[in-house]
Amino acid sequence: MALGEGSYQVLIGPGLLQEIPELLLRYAPASRYAVISDSIVAPLYGQRVAAALEKYAPAVLVTFPSGEWNKTRETWADLTDRLLQAGLGRDGAVVAVGGGVVGDLAGFTAATYMRGIPYVQVPTTLLAMLDSSVGGKTGVDTPRAKNAVGAFHQPRLVVADTTTLKSLPEAQLAAGMAEAIKHGAIADARYFEHILQWRDEVFAKDPQVLAEIVRRSVEIKSAIVASDEREAGPRSALNFGHTIAHALETAMGYELLHGEAVAIGMAVEAGLGEQMGISLPGTRSAILEALRSYRLPHDIPPGTDLNRLIETMNRDKKARSNTVRFALLERIGAVARDPDGSWTIAVDHGLLLSALERGS
Ligand SMILES: NC(=O)c1ccc[n+]([C@@H]2O[C@H](COP(=O)([O-])OP(=O)(O)OC[C@H]3O[C@@H](n4cnc5c(N)ncnc54)[C@H](O)[C@@H]3O)[C@@H](O)[C@H]2O)c1
Ligand SMILES: [Zn+2]
Repeated sequence: MALGEGSYQVLIGPGLLQEIPELLLRYAPASRYAVISDSIVAPLYGQRVAAALEKYAPAVLVTFPSGEWNKTRETWADLTDRLLQAGLGRDGAVVAVGGGVVGDLAGFTAATYMRGIPYVQVPTTLLAMLDSSVGGKTGVDTPRAKNAVGAFHQPRLVVADTTTLKSLPEAQLAAGMAEAIKHGAIADARYFEHILQWRDEVFAKDPQVLAEIVRRSVEIKSAIVASDEREAGPRSALNFGHTIAHALETAMGYELLHGEAVAIGMAVEAGLGEQMGISLPGTRSAILEALRSYRLPHDIPPGTDLNRLIETMNRDKKARSNTVRFALLERIGAVARDPDGSWTIAVDHGLLLSALERGS
């Protein structure tokens, strides 16, 4: 993909893991490599990547315990210490092997270590392949907010081997599909239709169909990001479902997967769009049909404190004055524009509360 700060390749397809050493030597040559992975992915794929690399250059495997709750400044500090211990210098490079948590942490480590060293993403969850490994956002969570501390740092290369998804739990696969549904909903009605048709192949983990989904989602996300690398305009379309999702994630701790929170967020935000007369009638039911077919949740969990949810949205960086701004759909395949040209639309508290009360 082409981006201002240097373009990079996103390679997608079954079996690419075997080609990692050659790919790294070509796209991210370094005197020493640090393969960063988590405790679940390391024995599945991380060790193998580090061992294969070791034949060409010294490679150290650095791991941390799996789980979003470890995407912290503490883990980042530990990773940087261990890179120093391993003797990784300015001419070293980081290889992130894992899901979005590994990608965000390893990317942030690479962005800050010795003021920035190259890194390569080897995503192993569907979500990481079709979403988080593209765009160059890296960072960690803080107790008050997700992704609150971070940096933009573009990888040199992304290698998405769809056979690694064979070992991925079904709920994680579905969570990745939530982001694919979002890509179709904001930019491509035909892709949205295809996603509905591909359900059986996706749950059977057909590597070719999964590669096709990753390819289309990456194209959509790359095109949006390339047009707006620092998130002033069109990039806010990618936030569809996310204003509510982030608040839900803050409220619920780690009970919800990111993709599940996005699914609920899309359902409620699609309802909000229709209620405001902004989205074409039927938009909400199309979103619900897609979410149901991928066994994704679409209702705000019972017992959620809705006023607290709104407070969290207000604290979010997208909030201005007494309204929360949302990326809303005009219809499946297109995002609505505010009459003032903005890519987000202000929603006042009363309306937001009633949409949340109605649920999806
Ligand atoms: N940087 C971005 O632009 C961006 C975009 C979207 C999401 N994110 C971030 O991504 C994170 C979520 O990513 P995720 O859903 O990949 O979570 P994750 O990295 O926690 O992975 C989910 C679980 O699956 C396990 N796993 C990973 N690959 C596996 C495989 N092939 N087989 C079996 N198990 C496997 C992991 O160990 C983990 O337990 C969040 O922190 C979110 O903020 C970042
Ligand atoms: Zn997301």
